Amino acid sequence: TESLTVAELAKKLYREPSEIIKKLFLLGVAATINQQLDKDAIELIASEYGVEVEEKVIVDQTDLETYFTEDREEDLEVRPPVVTIMGHVDHGKTTTLDSIRHTKVTAGEAGGITQHIGAYQVKVGGKKITFLDTPGHEAFTTMRARGAQVTDITVLVVAADDGVKPQTVEAINHAKAAGVPIIVAVNKIDKPTANPERVMQELTEYNLVPEDWGGDTIFVPISALTGEGIDNLLEMILLVSEVEELKANPNRRALGSVIEARLDKGRGPVATLLVQNGTLRIGDPIVVGHTYGRVRAMVNDLGRRVKEAGPSTPVEITGLNDVPEAGDRFVVFEDEKTARQVGEARKQQAVQAHRNETARVSLDTLFEQM
Ligand code: GTP
Ligand code: MG
Repeated sequence: TESLTVAELAKKLYREPSEIIKKLFLLGVAATINQQLDKDAIELIASEYGVEVEEKVIVDQTDLETYFTEDREEDLEVRPPVVTIMGHVDHGKTTTLDSIRHTKVTAGEAGGITQHIGAYQVKVGGKKITFLDTPGHEAFTTMRARGAQVTDITVLVVAADDGVKPQTVEAINHAKAAGVPIIVAVNKIDKPTANPERVMQELTEYNLVPEDWGGDTIFVPISALTGEGIDNLLEMILLVSEVEELKANPNRRALGSVIEARLDKGRGPVATLLVQNGTLRIGDPIVVGHTYGRVRAMVNDLGRRVKEAGPSTPVEITGLNDVPEAGDRFVVFEDEKTARQVGEARKQQAVQAHRNETARVSLDTLFEQM
């Protein structure tokens, strides 16, 4: 079992050490600030503040990852897949994203003005799919580097007239490392020089083998330019999504990740969040990376104001006290006070980390000069 000093416990409980020492004294324990407390003493003090101590580990309230807890099976509901499009330069990632958006979004949602918020949703036969709009590799790597796994399915775009290229391989490696299933979109089939067979042949080397050849990878021939095969691609995404049994609990406080964020002149910090679990609502007290606040306004990918956003939904929010970073986690808290405490503590941690970093850098330069 873990032990903590009085000072450490005080920090975790957001109290002054002197207050903890007083409490201990009243409980018949004479303690100093650096004294190690055993599990029983920790539990006793924590319970005085209405805090529960979990088995073995004391939950670090400032670590947002600890809030990403599993749900009970019976609370889970099917959620839309979150899809990232990856592939080599010029193979047609942006054109594919545009083609999907134009065929699905504008047609289905008359009157909506598509906004660039870094992600968008389409509806296919009543089912939703969320696409991350940011250039594949970048989004995928920055997110993953920061510990946020947001992608459920990768669509690997390979130009049929160009074949497998270095970034194609990179994308495969990223997806495999993250354990994300790959659907291959063989693009530019409208071109006279297109050779889809060659693409399939080349990809077998990377263990992406079509079902017809005895493998289990889905290949979809498309032309992002003419729109041919796009519907089929969307169907296949839904198929894989069903196999993956993607679920979430809409009836809990929202958790998720930042897709992108910026400072808007008029509105202040603006962040596009992907709700990964729970439901986000206007007015929610929220901690986002090293920032916090209350969700003041929410806008969806069609530029419409919304009051709530469920699992796999991207929304742009305002109301934060600072600009978070892509890949940062967000957590909604029960009350504003806790959100502020955790937010402030995280901000302090970030400031301290930055100070340590600059101190180290200047020390390094000092040594270099010697
Ligand atoms: P980067 O963002 O630079 O990595 O490129 P990308 O993968 O986003 O490619 P993009 O969608 O910009 O397409 C590159 C070029 O290929 C553009 O000139 C497109 O018009 C063209 N293109 C994309 N898809 C198709 C297609 O299906 N058929 C044809 N003929 N051209 C295509
Ligand atoms: Mg592009």
